[in-house]
Amino acid sequence: MSIDWETIRQEEFPSISEKSLIYLISAGASLMSKSAYNEGIRYFDQMRTNGDINHELLFLQVDEIRKSIGEYINADPDEIAFLINTTSGISASAYLFRDHIGEVLYPSIEFPTSIHMFRKLGYPCVRVEDENGAYTIANFASKLTKNSKYSIQSHVQSFNGFRQNLNEYGNFCIENGIKNIINSTQAFGVFEIDVEAYKIDILVANALKWLGCGYGVGIIYIKDDIIQKFGLPFTGWLSVENPFAMDNKNMDIIQKTSAMDSLGGCPNFASLLTLKGAFNLIKEKIGGGDLKKGIRLTQERIISLTSYFLEKLITVPLTIITPQEIQYRSGIITVQHKKAKRIHRYLIKNNVYSTLKRYPDDSNETLIRFAINYYNNYEDLEKTIQIINSCKYL
Ligand SMILES: Cc1ncc(COP(=O)(O)O)c(C=O)c1O
Repeated sequence: MSIDWETIRQEEFPSISEKSLIYLISAGASLMSKSAYNEGIRYFDQMRTNGDINHELLFLQVDEIRKSIGEYINADPDEIAFLINTTSGISASAYLFRDHIGEVLYPSIEFPTSIHMFRKLGYPCVRVEDENGAYTIANFASKLTKNSKYSIQSHVQSFNGFRQNLNEYGNFCIENGIKNIINSTQAFGVFEIDVEAYKIDILVANALKWLGCGYGVGIIYIKDDIIQKFGLPFTGWLSVENPFAMDNKNMDIIQKTSAMDSLGGCPNFASLLTLKGAFNLIKEKIGGGDLKKGIRLTQERIISLTSYFLEKLITVPLTIITPQEIQYRSGIITVQHKKAKRIHRYLIKNNVYSTLKRYPDDSNETLIRFAINYYNNYEDLEKTIQIINSCKYL
């Protein structure tokens, strides 16, 4: 059965047609889906009408979401905790290993937050260079030393859209005794992930980018073996057995990643519960009751849209800096032009939203990033190309 993407677009993201938006900034933040929004509103209504009566039900719903994520990434739900963003997950990871400092491999264009706290805590961070925008295993291997202990990289690079082959990368980490930390922010919710098959030790993400849940949700997976060996980096009153006994001497900490939810305090339910709607949309409306199928179909849809866009882009005088091989494909396509700033402004005037970027050591913005989610359609991309072609700055 084929998916009716147009109906999903109309029902879940009505502002696209109401405002004639060509929305290509999902790598910044997606539009919030109606399903996610409804769950957020349900929470506010519940607090307005009943306050804290039945607050246990809120915790139970969070556990249901945890189960969905476990099913999605092939993890035990207890290996998953909720934080507030990706950065908080990275900070937790850096603290987790702080008594075991070692060299950290990272791609040269890696998103800053992935290594920020590792640098701050004094881990030596070793930069890995690219091959035409791709971060090959060979280039990681060339930077290995006897002090290499960790590797951190984005599943999909925010800068140029390169998607790492996590299957091969996981084997490389195992063979070299490297802890494999993946920042999946630019893929989470729309690309397949299997933490067991890909031998991932820690995975962090937020729900803002591709899942369409708005700000305020961070997700962290930490493999159980790691928690058993290194313990939890942050805990609080809700991380212990019998927290409601209110015994302030109780340090009987539950040794599971899930005990680190909200650093051990009360959750930000308003944001968290939007995840319930987001996963329901993927599972029911896209996957016909099968979450993994929903993710696979979403991934295929994004790859099909980006393939189409790349074919059309070849006809315009912009340099594509994204690696184009299908195995590296994500929802992000970045192009370069010396008048990128003017072209970007022209696109906004025509209701096409993209992201203006620059190389970190360049004072001028020369890059435009197009982020294509499953709710975009071929017409959006066709129109974008037409508008680019009509731009006098090319
Ligand atoms: C790869 C990656 N990591 C992290 C972030 C931001 O993380 P946070 O949720 O902490 O703001 C972004 C934002 O663009 C990103 O692209």
